[in-house]
Parts: sequence; C-alpha cells; structure tokens
Amino acid sequence: MTSTEHPRIAGPSTPAFVIDESALNLLVNRFQNALAKHWPHSVMSYSVKTNPLPWLLTYMKGQGVWAEVVSDSEYRLVRAIGFEPEQIVYNGPVKSRAVLRAALRNGSLTNLDSKREVRWAVELAEEDSRLDVRVGLRVNWDLEALCPGESTVNGEMSRFGFDFDNGDLEAAIAELSAAGVAVGGLHMHRNSRTKSLQVYKAAAGVAAEIISKLDLELDWIDIGGGFFGSLNDTTGFDDYISCIRAELAAVVDLNRTRLVVEPGGSVIANPVELHAQVLDTKDIGRQRFVITDTSRTDIDPLFRKKAVYDIDTGAAPGTSHPEQVIAGFSCMEDDRLMVLKDSPKLVEGDRIVFRGVGAYTMSYGSSFIEFPPAVYVRHENQMMLVRRAGQVEDYLQGNMWADGQLLPTAAQPE
Ligand SMILES: Cc1ncc(COP(=O)(O)O)c(C=O)c1O
Repeated sequence: MTSTEHPRIAGPSTPAFVIDESALNLLVNRFQNALAKHWPHSVMSYSVKTNPLPWLLTYMKGQGVWAEVVSDSEYRLVRAIGFEPEQIVYNGPVKSRAVLRAALRNGSLTNLDSKREVRWAVELAEEDSRLDVRVGLRVNWDLEALCPGESTVNGEMSRFGFDFDNGDLEAAIAELSAAGVAVGGLHMHRNSRTKSLQVYKAAAGVAAEIISKLDLELDWIDIGGGFFGSLNDTTGFDDYISCIRAELAAVVDLNRTRLVVEPGGSVIANPVELHAQVLDTKDIGRQRFVITDTSRTDIDPLFRKKAVYDIDTGAAPGTSHPEQVIAGFSCMEDDRLMVLKDSPKLVEGDRIVFRGVGAYTMSYGSSFIEFPPAVYVRHENQMMLVRRAGQVEDYLQGNMWADGQLLPTAAQPE
C-alpha cells in the first residue's frame, strides 16, 4: 500500500511506524539522570521484548543502556547487535541450559526463575570450583496483598520466581550456597495496573525484608520494569527511584549494591507513531466506516486496549461528522481502532497518525493478511528508513517444500 501525499500532515508512505528520536532521547536521558541522582551505582537495562527493533537496540547500546532479555533468542539477538555479555540482564522462565551456562561463565547479570535453573547453576559451580558463579533469584511476592487492585492476574497468583512465604526462596538460596554459588541479587519485577509509586515501594519493601531476614549481602537489586513514562511528566522517574532508595537505603550499601531497572514501555511507548491513510469511507446506518491501511494488529496486537488514542488527522478543518468508526484493513469485524465523535470528516487519502504506540506493538510483528509496516526514525526533521516494509521474500525465507528442501528464492511465484 502506498500513500498519495496529503497536504495537511506530512509523513512517509503508509502504513509506517515513525520513531521520534528527540522524544526518545528525552525519556532515556531523564531515566538516566534520575538514576544518577538517586542511586548512582545502578544499571539501566532496556526491556528488549517491549520493542526489539534492531535500530532501537543499537541506539540503546550507544546510550550506555544494557539489554534485558527473557529468552535465548533475545540473548542471541542482542549479542548479534553487539552487546557484551556483561551488558546483558538475563531473565525469564525459558532459559536453556546451554545459554544459561554461557551467560554465567561470561558475566551476564542472571536472575534465575525456576528449580531447573538452580540445578544447572549448582552443576556448573560443582564442575569448576574456580569459577565465580553468581546468580540472582526472581522473588514471587504477593502484590495484591500489599497493593489491593494492582495485580494484573485478577485474583490469581503470579507464576514467576520463588515464593518467600512458603520457604521456596530460602531453600533455593541454601541449595545454591551449599554448592558454592553466590546469591548476588534479587529480582522483584511485577506488572501492575496503575504503575503507582506504591507498587515500587512495596517491591523494594519486600526486598528489604528478605535482605534483613536472611542477612543477604547483595550485588544487585533488580526492581524490574513496568514504570509509567510521559513526555510531560518531568519528575516521575525521580519519584520512582527516590522512593525505591528510601525503602532500601537502611539495609544495603549503596556503593556496593547496584539498583537494576528494566524499563520498556516508559521509554519507548511515547516516541512512536503509526502513520496510516484512509482507503475508503462508507455510510451504513448512523455510522460512517473509515477503512484504513493499518489494523489493530499493528497498534493493539492483543486486541485489549481501550480504543482511545492520541491521534492527528489530515481531515479538513471546519467539517464535522457525528460518528466515524476508524477500521482496519483486515477481514475481522472487531478490527476497529477507535470511534471519532463530532470530528472533522475523513476522506479517501487523508493521513491518520496514532501516537504513543511503541510498546508491545512491533514485537508482536503480525503477518496477518499484510506483512509488518516499515519503520522510520525522525532525526532532526529528516526521515530515515530503519526497516523496510515486510515482503513476501522475507516470509518465504527459511521455509521448505514438502521434500525438505529450502524454497529457492529465485523460484518465487509472481
Ligand atoms: C521481567 C520484566 N522486566 C521488564 C519488563 C518491561 O515492562 P514495561 O515494558 O512495562 O516497562 C517486563 C514486562 O512485562 C518484564 O516482565
């Protein structure tokens, strides 16, 4: 799909994501400054799953930000981008034995999530007693009990990490210590509904309680991600870090124990726009459907956002329509992005810009009906293409015919 350029708002051919580099700089620098001010001995580690675009990973590396990964594939991706093992935080329940061993040998900051990972770390330490095997443990703590209404799992328990209350955490520490593995960190991440300071106060408070009760001397406390970030909020990151520090300062040596943060959405959601255009309009009953060349799969891949976006459109000022339903290109009835009430009338060729769509959108990279959109970076008013739109050739890559042969790229259908 290509765009006929509309005079009222400029942009690249649609559909396309556009990353505003100055907005990204602002948020990343603000987070770094908050850490420098309130916990100088700290690590900012970008949550790769939130948006693993290679340009973005390279950008983060250039800013001195580490990479936080939650799978072997993500680990290999960031190594391919050029992150050193010592600049990688390795988390999640799906680590393989081979990559875990390599990560521990090469000094990645690793937080274990399961009993098999404890077993593998123990094995490694027992095989080579000269090796400094150092791990963190993800803590399973009851967010809902401490902050009612904040849990995202509706009355159920979180499945990640080791439970302190039932003794699992202490048992894992005992098993690791007995084998000579140093327990150097605690990982406290929880997603929450409101991302409020109370959630971080609770996470840091639970960590402080565990440190005191078990008399731990830690190299890191990883508080995770899930922060709120907005271009207009100049003090939010400061508030988070100073509140975390207030809970922990009495039980850790701030010059020894690093605070690790794993922001994703708070730095990448806002700087990203999706540019689309109107393909057609049709009036059915009281509703006008505005069919676009994007889809919910691009900006709401889990189909669960409340359809309220900050948008800009090329519709002619001074016109108005009572109810315009902005719909996607797919064949699903619920591929409806939002409803505009009493807004300027959109017509074929008008551009629509959806703002704040950088988190958990590109990472779901849908090939449903259309291949993923191109990505541009707006850099000092220039548009730089950093990913071309997905193509049939990309989709055919690595696929095999029934006889197990790789599909010859030259033999693609017209
Ligand atoms: C372990 C961990 N760290 C960091 C993040 C990033 O969260 P967000 O993108 O909300 O900052 C997540 C997201 O779920 C996570 O599970």
